[in-house]
Amino acid sequence: MSSQRLLSLPHTGMTGTSAWKGPGVDLTHLYDPLDFRTLVDPYPLYAELRARTPVFWHETMRSWVLLTYRDCRDVLRNHEDFARDRRRIGEEVPEFRQSLQSLDPPAQKPLRSLLMNSFRQQNPVEIARRARSHIHTLFNRLADREQFDWMRDVAAPVALRVTAELLGVEEPNGAEYAEISDGIARRMDAGLVPDRAGVGDRARHQLNRLVENWLGAEERPGVLADVRRDAERARVPEHYIRNTTGVMFNASYGTIFATAGNVVLTLLRHPEVLAALHRDESLLPTAVDELIRYDGPAQGTSRVAVKRMVVSGTVIEPGEVVLTLLAAANRDPDQFAHPDRLVLDRAPNQHLSFGWGPHACLGALFGRAAIRELVLGLLHAPRPLTLAGTPTRRPTATVRTIDTLPVTFRSESGAEALAAGRR
Ligand code: HEM
Repeated sequence: MSSQRLLSLPHTGMTGTSAWKGPGVDLTHLYDPLDFRTLVDPYPLYAELRARTPVFWHETMRSWVLLTYRDCRDVLRNHEDFARDRRRIGEEVPEFRQSLQSLDPPAQKPLRSLLMNSFRQQNPVEIARRARSHIHTLFNRLADREQFDWMRDVAAPVALRVTAELLGVEEPNGAEYAEISDGIARRMDAGLVPDRAGVGDRARHQLNRLVENWLGAEERPGVLADVRRDAERARVPEHYIRNTTGVMFNASYGTIFATAGNVVLTLLRHPEVLAALHRDESLLPTAVDELIRYDGPAQGTSRVAVKRMVVSGTVIEPGEVVLTLLAAANRDPDQFAHPDRLVLDRAPNQHLSFGWGPHACLGALFGRAAIRELVLGLLHAPRPLTLAGTPTRRPTATVRTIDTLPVTFRSESGAEALAAGRR
């Protein structure tokens, strides 16, 4: 699931020292993130694993896998003991590679603050308005099609447009960018499937070329221009900006794309949700978050222990990797009542789909806005969207993504297709 090497954790809370070293449970044989059934619906398996133990060792991933909400959140916010920056465990990482994602506080702070200020300066209402108009145009174009692919024809162009406008860069070619993003998503699974590293590295190289073009092009309003203007004053080196531009573009495109698929498939399978939103649109903000909790795109993210730690009774040694399984945490019954139900007015709903702590998502506001506009578009579409075939999944473990989602606005073909989609 992660190219990083992980280690584990056990029971209540974490401390930096422990007199007792738990043996650690190895459940590698029970958890294959790329197994077809897991790709289709991982949640029953997460519940089964959590019922056995809050923390287990996964030999293939060389990681400790954390299944409970509390442990995942505690690790993500405890950046002093669980690092993203592998230099903190003595590994060599070239300085020219550093980005927002690889740095931890305090080194991360100037860059993260610079970006946060810049995100605050963007206008979410205007970005949502433009997304709405784009979605409207796409839906009109697709209204009479016998069948179309929601992922290729809606999720991808919407993700691309929102991302390019937010960052203020020229929109890349859709088909070419889709390949780059898929390559990067596969790269994230190199810990599970080592030969994915090559394709991922090529994709990163292509993304770097795009970044060079954006940096050389005439400035447009958006995050990139603001960040470049203020970088020197904030004492943020140029290569941090360069590397983080690629990180941001893909973090935005890949997650909006995947979330748009997951959420719409959920809506198609739960027509009562759209019906409830039709009756009461004021539920939309909480409903969007609930849909993202229920089936978010990021299955997990990893950190490395800087010192000996105990998590839920399991000892984690320095240098061991911990995989916080965000999607499992989001269904933890100790945190969410009826976690497998869609509760449209769930509050509070502090799910981990946008991460937590110093590496939490910077673009959550805009990600939510894009998904809200898609749901609104469906609510106001002249005819209901229905499934027109069986969805397929991408064989990626870190990012849970639908590959193809055949749908139609011509509802006469809907009922049978809905049945097909449930298989
Ligand atoms: C529904 C859409 C989105 C979801 C579900 C999502 C999810 C996430 C998650 C789980 C993380 C934390 C990863 C970790 O801790 O390892 C993250 C980080 C990040 N996200 Fe998002 N994201 C979304 C949209 C966006 C958008 C629109 C942007 C805009 C640029 C964005 C930019 C970022 C960046 C830059 C980071 C890295 C932050 C850091 O490492 O300090 N995301 N996102």
